[in-house]
Amino acid sequence: MPAAAEAALAGGPAGPRALRPYLDTVLAALADGAARRRGPLPAGGPRAVAGRVREAVRPVLPDTGVGAQAALAGLVRVLAEGAADPADPHCAAHLHAPPLAVAAAADLAAGALNPSLDSWDQAPAAAEVEAEVAAAVAAEVHPGAARADALVTTGGTEANQLALLLARELLGPGVQVVAGANAHHSVHRAAWLLGMRAPHVVPTPRGVLDPAAVRDVLGRLRGPAPGEPGPALVVATAGTTDAGAVDPLPQLADAAGAYGARLHVDAAYGGLLLLAPGRAHLVAGLDRAHTVALDLHKLGWQPIAAGFLAVRDGADLAPLAYSADYLSADDDTAAGLPALLHRSLRTTRRADVFKVAVTLRALGRAGVAELVEATFAAAARLAEFVAEDPELELYAPPALTTVLFRPAGAGDAAVAALRRRLLADGHAVLGRASAGGRRWLKATLLNPHVQASDLRNLLKLVTEAHRAAPAAAGPADHPDHPARENGTAADAR
Ligand SMILES: Cc1ncc(COP(=O)(O)O)c(C=O)c1O
Repeated sequence: MPAAAEAALAGGPAGPRALRPYLDTVLAALADGAARRRGPLPAGGPRAVAGRVREAVRPVLPDTGVGAQAALAGLVRVLAEGAADPADPHCAAHLHAPPLAVAAAADLAAGALNPSLDSWDQAPAAAEVEAEVAAAVAAEVHPGAARADALVTTGGTEANQLALLLARELLGPGVQVVAGANAHHSVHRAAWLLGMRAPHVVPTPRGVLDPAAVRDVLGRLRGPAPGEPGPALVVATAGTTDAGAVDPLPQLADAAGAYGARLHVDAAYGGLLLLAPGRAHLVAGLDRAHTVALDLHKLGWQPIAAGFLAVRDGADLAPLAYSADYLSADDDTAAGLPALLHRSLRTTRRADVFKVAVTLRALGRAGVAELVEATFAAAARLAEFVAEDPELELYAPPALTTVLFRPAGAGDAAVAALRRRLLADGHAVLGRASAGGRRWLKATLLNPHVQASDLRNLLKLVTEAHRAAPAAAGPADHPDHPARENGTAADAR
């Protein structure tokens, strides 16, 4: 038996007392690691990080443990020192959210109590919290739909998978997924995983799906009976990974409706805008989709994982029905114990929804809207600064909070090399995206606290790094890299 402190449990009446000194250690190590890092990510690239991590983590399984305090202090510090910290204003590559402190604190409770949402007897309160939040999310996405429902997922990928699975189960295995070239790669992987035909990819030269092109594809699908349209699932995106573009949802809903197709909208990025009155118009039409993916660990400031699949008609979830005697016996259910297994394809399931419940209640609609507005304002400001700077080129005004830009006249190879240089120096974490046949630096702004001075500094870092090493630039045009469709999966996270 290890020393009492190492074997102490996080739950139970003594749990909080056991946790408190560890929390002090964790918080001190987080601060220490961030101070050592001195920036958005560690300088020196993978080799430097690996050296420090190996030193702290080896041996992974010592014969005699080093003790809880030492293990926590050493590993948390090295984790923080080697983090790409989305709370840093210069860390803006991906849809990688800086979590709110209140959400991280709530998540601690889920970790300590460890409710598992595969059966009511492992999660009595958490199951009810999940039911309440799911109902609230469902009502936001599909207001007025009496049977609207929502499932909790690990993110956009799982939500997209479930949407395709439901389409396959409801329309038959011959259903054809029709998606834009701007769709997230998880749509393609879901079709592959589910044994469905590869999605029909509609080109998106302007970054968004063209409803006329979708109609054209749907009109050419042949159903089993002569004259009938083939079963199809149209997948639209509200907030593309590369550029934050929003497909024309109402027109796509019309197109899908005209051919009897289902409509899924991947709103992993843009879904939260429904809660912000000043921006909800950007995702108008979500309510017309049969299924909608949302993901609050993107725009939503949640620790991973915080996804949802909203379903307009809860009856569509019937294919997920399943009962295992040891988790949801029929007689238990008949006696009033809620069955949970049909709410996911996973069995053991963390109470990921708990932090969402705490956050939404803490901020309210007004607080969420303020954070959304601040984030949008930061993106607009960054785009403005880029547009004013003759050394930089802006792709387009941001649709949501993603800004694509590059040094004026730089070739694709130079853009890629510049991004890597900023990473290696530990100065900035910017993404890359292909749009209009060219490669761009991508700043995905999700941090509502970013100031104008942070954004100016970020651009200064970019222009100075480009000026310092234009030789790596290569030709302004890029014979090595033929023009590509906007939003190809290659650069999508
Ligand atoms: C539009 C879109 N959909 C889905 C996903 C996948 O979400 P997750 O990584 O949470 O599974 C992403 C990830 O960035 C995304 O950008």
